[in-house]
Amino acid sequence: MIQKTTSKAFVLLAAIIFPFFSIAQININPYAYSPQKKVECTKGAVVSAHPLASKVGVEIMKKGGNAMDAAIAMQLALAVVYPGAGNIGGGGFTVARLANGKNLAIDFREKAPDNASRNMYLNQKGDAQLELSQNGHLSSGVPGTVAGIFTELKYARLPFRKLIQPAIDLAEDGFAISEAEARNLNAAQASFKKYNTMTPLFIKSTAWKAGDTLIQKDLAKTLKLIRDDGAKGFYEGETADLIVAEMKRGNGIMTLDDLKNYTAKEREAVVFPYKSDYTIITMPLPASGGVLLPQMMRMVEDQPLKRYGFETKESVHLMVEVERLAYADRAKFLGDKDFVKVPVKLLTSYPYIIQRMKLYDLEKAGNSKDIQAGHILPESEETTHLNTYDKEGNAVSITTTLNGEYGSSTVVGGAGFLLNNEMDDFSIKPGVPNMYGAVGGEANAIAPGKRMLSSMTPTIVLKDNKPFLVVGTPGGTTITTSVFQTLIDIIEFGMSPEDAVNKPKFHHQWLPDVIFVEKGFPSDVKEELIKMGYKIMEREAIGRTEVIQIMPDGKIIAVGDRRGEDTAEGY
Ligand code: DON
Repeated sequence: MIQKTTSKAFVLLAAIIFPFFSIAQININPYAYSPQKKVECTKGAVVSAHPLASKVGVEIMKKGGNAMDAAIAMQLALAVVYPGAGNIGGGGFTVARLANGKNLAIDFREKAPDNASRNMYLNQKGDAQLELSQNGHLSSGVPGTVAGIFTELKYARLPFRKLIQPAIDLAEDGFAISEAEARNLNAAQASFKKYNTMTPLFIKSTAWKAGDTLIQKDLAKTLKLIRDDGAKGFYEGETADLIVAEMKRGNGIMTLDDLKNYTAKEREAVVFPYKSDYTIITMPLPASGGVLLPQMMRMVEDQPLKRYGFETKESVHLMVEVERLAYADRAKFLGDKDFVKVPVKLLTSYPYIIQRMKLYDLEKAGNSKDIQAGHILPESEETTHLNTYDKEGNAVSITTTLNGEYGSSTVVGGAGFLLNNEMDDFSIKPGVPNMYGAVGGEANAIAPGKRMLSSMTPTIVLKDNKPFLVVGTPGGTTITTSVFQTLIDIIEFGMSPEDAVNKPKFHHQWLPDVIFVEKGFPSDVKEELIKMGYKIMEREAIGRTEVIQIMPDGKIIAVGDRRGEDTAEGY
């Protein structure tokens, strides 16, 4: 039985009913769709940032695909229908819990090109050139998404050509863009004009509007090369040649060797218990959540959060101080552990956590000048999220990114896809904030082949050893705190997944020393926190969290965030 609640937030081309046409034998109408925020079902569920991608995912499951098949098809569909963040020119992380009990952590984070160097974004005076680390050809790391997809494919069931065909059809035949996409494309026109050497089809002489058809022939051709030649269809041959030609035209540094040598890495997932009945599975470095999530969960584990309640002065104070402590450590210690020594075990150990929590004063706001990273002895450590869960018990959580909205704004001429601007996630100069305000130093300095530190935190929670939650979100540095809050909201405050996703969020990242809150954060609590000594700033939406919750009776509840066009599907 499926129960659905459909958001009426927007309905495309409501007046005109186009006949459904079959995308790769999948019944989808790419011209009329609307977000669906919640689904309750029993066989399988998916949730992602775009209605068409979610539709592709659930249809693949209905055709016999498992959670990984659905996730791969959705990633590829997002690269077409959600060009601001869905990608083949970016990177990300996949965390999965397979029905046989195996945990997966696939790292397809971008890496610095071999010609990158520590001070590549500093001018002669030593000043940071954020313009170069955040835009255009020089801001791109070597893309990892396609290598990631072929690593995921080992755990899928259907032939790859079936998984990629919906994306090819959506690129080749087109789909109607939503109002939000039209707005975003219009806002990005100046950047597209500035950072491209060949006019990409995203540039239009009149304004984009909801319902316009986006046809992406070059992208369809690139996807076909990937369909026919596998990862080599991207990292070698025509696509690689087009990337390198684009780099040459735009003074970028990525080479054919950088592309040919890129590999996704299967890492050991971070697995830690929370209280007696929960097990949390998340992504290790270079995803910072692999350190910060265990730190923060352990810091609150013995605190009376349940008694404090959701968004009271006491609970926000505790959670903010925990976030401050964790982010101070992030800035100092975290980076790619294949390149720098990161004391992961020590930073997440109970003795260290207990020591750090001595800095938490029940009565007073902390202060980021006084609270620095912990002292430790050397140890012998625009983005989008999707979740899938199938009836066999496989759970997949993927966060993937171009970094900023539309990444570097550079489309590879003739290949039709956007490149990331992930190099800005390195610390380009100690103490200089990146586009999300994160600071860093030595551990996250640029080096050839190194992967930049990420906030992405795809996470799965088991309860009594059975899949319970599949969670993740975009949102730069707010990702880790949003995942933390979502887990606390459901586990400690007993909230429904809908409320945990949609209620106002808050965020602290050590520097700046401010609590960021969303509109709707309770104003009396705000007043009380200010009296305690906190600075509070209201900001735009924090993340777009997607949750799948599996109930003890087997019911599956999938929820897409109200903050976007996020859509849950199930059957
Ligand atoms: O990996 C990271 O931490 C960033 N590149 C994520 C950027 C992001 O979430 C943007 N989306 N809102």
